[in-house]
Amino acid sequence: MCGIVGYVGEKQAAPILLEGLSKLEYRGYDSAGIAVFDAGRIHVVKTKGRLAALSDMIDGGASITSQMGIGHTRWATHGEPSDVNSHPHISNSGKFAVVHNGIIENYFKLKEFLENRGYNFVSQTDTEVVAHLVDFYYDGDMLSTVTKVISRLEGSYALGIISCEHPDSFIAVRKDSPLIVGLGENENFIASDIPAILSRTRDVYLLEDNEIVILKKDNVSIYDIHGEPITKEIFHVDWDVSAAEKGGYEHFMFKEMMEQPKVLKDTIHPRIQDGNVVLDDISLTAEDIASFNKISIIGCGSAYHVGCVGKYVIEKLARIPVEVELASEFRYRFPIVDDKTLVIVISQSGETADTLAALRDAKKSGARIMSIVNVVGSSIARESDDVIYTWAGPEIAVATTKAYSTQLSVIYLIALYLADKKELLSAEDKKNYIDAMLALPDCVETVIGQKETIQYLASKFYNVKDVFYIGRGVDYAASMEGSLKLKEISYVHSEAYAAGELKHGTISLIEEGTLVVALCSVDMLFEKMLSNIKEVKARGAVVWALTFEGNTAIEAEADHVLYVPRTVMEFAPSCIVPALQLFGYYVSALRGLDIDKPRNLAKSVTVE
Ligand code: M6R
Repeated sequence: MCGIVGYVGEKQAAPILLEGLSKLEYRGYDSAGIAVFDAGRIHVVKTKGRLAALSDMIDGGASITSQMGIGHTRWATHGEPSDVNSHPHISNSGKFAVVHNGIIENYFKLKEFLENRGYNFVSQTDTEVVAHLVDFYYDGDMLSTVTKVISRLEGSYALGIISCEHPDSFIAVRKDSPLIVGLGENENFIASDIPAILSRTRDVYLLEDNEIVILKKDNVSIYDIHGEPITKEIFHVDWDVSAAEKGGYEHFMFKEMMEQPKVLKDTIHPRIQDGNVVLDDISLTAEDIASFNKISIIGCGSAYHVGCVGKYVIEKLARIPVEVELASEFRYRFPIVDDKTLVIVISQSGETADTLAALRDAKKSGARIMSIVNVVGSSIARESDDVIYTWAGPEIAVATTKAYSTQLSVIYLIALYLADKKELLSAEDKKNYIDAMLALPDCVETVIGQKETIQYLASKFYNVKDVFYIGRGVDYAASMEGSLKLKEISYVHSEAYAAGELKHGTISLIEEGTLVVALCSVDMLFEKMLSNIKEVKARGAVVWALTFEGNTAIEAEADHVLYVPRTVMEFAPSCIVPALQLFGYYVSALRGLDIDKPRNLAKSVTVE
């Protein structure tokens, strides 16, 4: 939820910290700050607002001299966004500064403990307790101090800590919040995510929970929770740096939408060989598959919406009962999950706190865990029995687009794989589905090629108050994603509704001029959708329908129609949702909003 960076080396730290933070702003952007070691003391600069405000205050980092420091970009949890609540937080003694991503759940008790011992708190944050605890336990050695501090902390944390008594090194630790170490030449880094350090090094350590790291310019030492040294493998990042840059586009979201045909090809094509789905990534045998009596799909937000599509597709093709659940609900529901359950966990970041916790609960109950993850080496990927990576590349915009689309494609691959292993597909059906999979990148290319038409529709509707997205079957699942895309970036109220369900209450909200986006790609339900369109139009709605090419009967009912290339019904969300992503994008642009960093949100939700 927040982004942290740290640097020690021979160069000036402040500009490097600012550059790293600029790549992490997607994780939080309500305030930013840095702390550096300078002339025997810790110097903190922080401010409410975007990173640009911090950068202006320190002349892009040029006004601060230091070869070591830590930085933070915040998504507020405890205490409103303000200068004082911004990180880094400093101990009363001025000796220690801390940046933190996560939530210290027992901070209130710790605060009382520290106040009773004379510590003064200046912020409303949970993080400030860490700065004072470090001061309280400090025994001259940062490693033993930090092991004592973390033994008192409950909750999640990635921490970077500098001390003015140790001008040549700093310390970091993680639990349930991501943290990586970047290994440079005469310089080393910490960061919440790889893009922050990618322009400086490609060699990283992916820290595990409770690993503590001490960084000097020419050495990195890693320890376990007891302070015992451990060795780790270096992970070499082989992405293209430009993948995490805007590359001439005005917004990351636009660039990422345009990348969809390519990343779909990267995700799908290597996994289809000689007319078969080949999932080398996983180790499920036909016997394993036969032993599952149900599949539980778990995710949050858009990942959950992929699961909703997955339920239709897997049940139809592989005939295995599928439950889809929001990770935050799954965790506290006492779900019935055992060794006969295949749990499919979906996450772009691989770090979403609720999803990770749900995975761990399911694993404890004996379930087999297969995850669909975008970020290589992330916690969810590491803790799963099998991982299928979406090869979407770094996704920076808060609103997911290309990751969603690639997750969908992996869900289809899994459905086909399971169906094939169960010998449920005729040769003809199998060929149709495989051909449709291979054609998906081109279908999406055609849809995004209609961007001017979608922009025109956005210009007609960007001022509407309420929008309803309706559909049946997979279209209903797709409508959830369309609705989320609109509301999260354009702040227009919208709801996704099963088209057959509207008349059971919600239709009372339809009035003159309400926009209804009707998704009509399920052939066997097409006539029923026409009736639902008639019902809302009779109450004053303006209808924009999306359907497959050739379904021209729609023109008699809908006010506006967008045709998408025909694919098999189960894969329709792949063709429809990119149009809805573009619609959300253009509405947001016309309303003059910050598309890549919508208010109140963050890309990676590492708190509950
Ligand atoms: O990283 P994850 O896929 O686990 O993230 C899950 C959701 O937070 C995410 O899909 C969110 O809903 C997006 N902002 C939607 O665009």
